[in-house]
Amino acid sequence: MHLLRFDSLPAWVSGVCALWRDRLRMNPALNICLPTGLTPAAVYAELARNVDRGDVSFTRASVFALDEFGGLPADDPGLTRNTLRRQLVSLVDLPSERFHCFDPNGADIEEQCRRYDTAIGRFDLVLLGIGLNGHLGMNEPGSDAGSPTRRVDLHETTIQSSARYFEHGNLPRWGITVGLGPILAAREVWLLATGTAKASVARETVKGEVGLHLPASLLRNHPNCSFFLDSEAGALL
Ligand code: GLP
Repeated sequence: MHLLRFDSLPAWVSGVCALWRDRLRMNPALNICLPTGLTPAAVYAELARNVDRGDVSFTRASVFALDEFGGLPADDPGLTRNTLRRQLVSLVDLPSERFHCFDPNGADIEEQCRRYDTAIGRFDLVLLGIGLNGHLGMNEPGSDAGSPTRRVDLHETTIQSSARYFEHGNLPRWGITVGLGPILAAREVWLLATGTAKASVARETVKGEVGLHLPASLLRNHPNCSFFLDSEAGALL
């Protein structure tokens, strides 16, 4: 795992975006998996400005949403797919048929997950945030390292911390997530963390024991994983 540390949040955003532009230029048909959450929002805003200026393009890329919350109406602004659309997809030149996302209200979730894994094939690049308990997407502690894309129950801490994404108290208790299998099989993985709240889990991820108790620690066995930390998230390292 390569540690990429930045002195400030603006430097962190620029660093992630510079490398992302580079990957898109090297491989315009980049097959990419994207998270939501508070962490990547500023990165998406800058990338969208880059596309607007003509610096880089998504016309040949494919984007897969990393996860989705279940049990909410399709127009809930806190859903992963609505957030990704609002923060990036609707602002860039990605053809709509190459934006893949889950529909937890759809009929057969298992079949949907099988089709998602088939459509993924192999990711060129996966961007990930990190949960306070070390979860990746919605792969909670204890998830199998080879787990496929599937329906999952959220841990209580994840349910409570998702409150910040919603304007109501009807917090989702389950979701659908790209599994650790397709994540760990990606050619390249970027783990993103900013802010003091992530300092302790960042330390555990880098220095603690590698194991299923902390899904993010499994990335240390990945041959091409970079951990992007701002000074606050990296403070205990
Ligand atoms: C959420 C999401 C993850 C996200 C993580 C961190 O539960 N399911 O995909 O990366 O937690 O979120 P944040 O960036 O808001 O701290």
